[in-house]
Amino acid sequence: MPLIPLRPLLETVDKYHFAQGAFNVNAVAQAKAAIEVHEMFRSAAILQGADLANGFMGGRTDFLNATLEDKKIGAKNIANAVKKFAEDSPIPVVLHLDHGKNFDSCKAAIEGGYTSVMIDGSSLPFDENVELTREVVKYAHARGVSVEGELGVLAGVEDHVFSSTSTYTNPLKAVEFFKKTGCDALAISYGTMHGASKGKDVKLRKEIAIAIKECMMHENLFGVLVSHGSSTVPKYIVDEINALGGNIQNAYGISIDELKAAIPCGIGKINVDTDIRLAVTRNMKEFFKNNPSKRDSASIGGVYQLLEEKKDQFDPRAFLPPIMDTVMYGTIKDDDTAALVEVIEKGVKEAIGTLIVEFGSFGKAPLVEQVSLEEMIERYKKM
Ligand code: 13P
Repeated sequence: MPLIPLRPLLETVDKYHFAQGAFNVNAVAQAKAAIEVHEMFRSAAILQGADLANGFMGGRTDFLNATLEDKKIGAKNIANAVKKFAEDSPIPVVLHLDHGKNFDSCKAAIEGGYTSVMIDGSSLPFDENVELTREVVKYAHARGVSVEGELGVLAGVEDHVFSSTSTYTNPLKAVEFFKKTGCDALAISYGTMHGASKGKDVKLRKEIAIAIKECMMHENLFGVLVSHGSSTVPKYIVDEINALGGNIQNAYGISIDELKAAIPCGIGKINVDTDIRLAVTRNMKEFFKNNPSKRDSASIGGVYQLLEEKKDQFDPRAFLPPIMDTVMYGTIKDDDTAALVEVIEKGVKEAIGTLIVEFGSFGKAPLVEQVSLEEMIERYKKM
């Protein structure tokens, strides 16, 4: 099926009271695995590429310095792959830009083939955030593309998004934000945090979500709330990485019970990246432990070297530069590369499969309307 915008999926989530995981991918193989595992559970899929992940997919291994040109190339690479996999798939698939930094990043993603974008104006004063988000909504909706905004500040690190403190979302301001911008979804700050060190026993302020949704209902407004920074950071995976020579300390996620309790309070999209990074890193380390002869492989030996050098890291982008053709285009050069890609895919499936079940999106694919971008343009005009 062709990719769909986020909006019809948000409407399904809102109507049937479940949450849809939104999963970050940084390589063609990860996108393939993410779609396959959603198919297996008969769930629709939201695949996300972060703004700087597009730089990485554009060949920029030092992705923190990616330019707009790099992001344009990367957006096309990942969108081409996702479109191809989605075309042959029976489930609806959305490709969403995560943490778009500015208008140009969102435009680059849409031109590349993304069907949904996030504009993250959360570091700006309220009025400027509204202005920027409104500008993106106008551009995106005219092309049938959905928009997520953000209000409130999450603590933690994720690519260029960094804050040492958090500011909870003011529910009154959130309602005003939806009204003034016309965005489809809003990321709120209610106690989650990006990265693998979220603190022990985090309690989410679910009342923030309840207050927003209740007021939206009275104002007859549509909008789905998004929980960023929602990785559960499975302890068994962290322990396995450390047993394989890694050094990951102070790793705590949001408990699955807290996340599940937030769903009936109005959280409908749950963003997860770290859990996938951890599972993929563990699998690559395990692969080289079990296959010592591959450590000197001409094609993938460089990945092993980087895993050994960067023991406290777990972002696969730190280890994959030696196989960038595989990352960017899915090229499988030889048997060694094929074997490594297989364990990368398994890691993606393990992390995502668990959460599809926990968040309740399994079996819901047939409930999602298959809306084309052209149809969505007409629908947005009438809203
Ligand atoms: P985690 O770091 O908790 O996976 O959060 C990812 C995220 O919010 C992507 O937008």
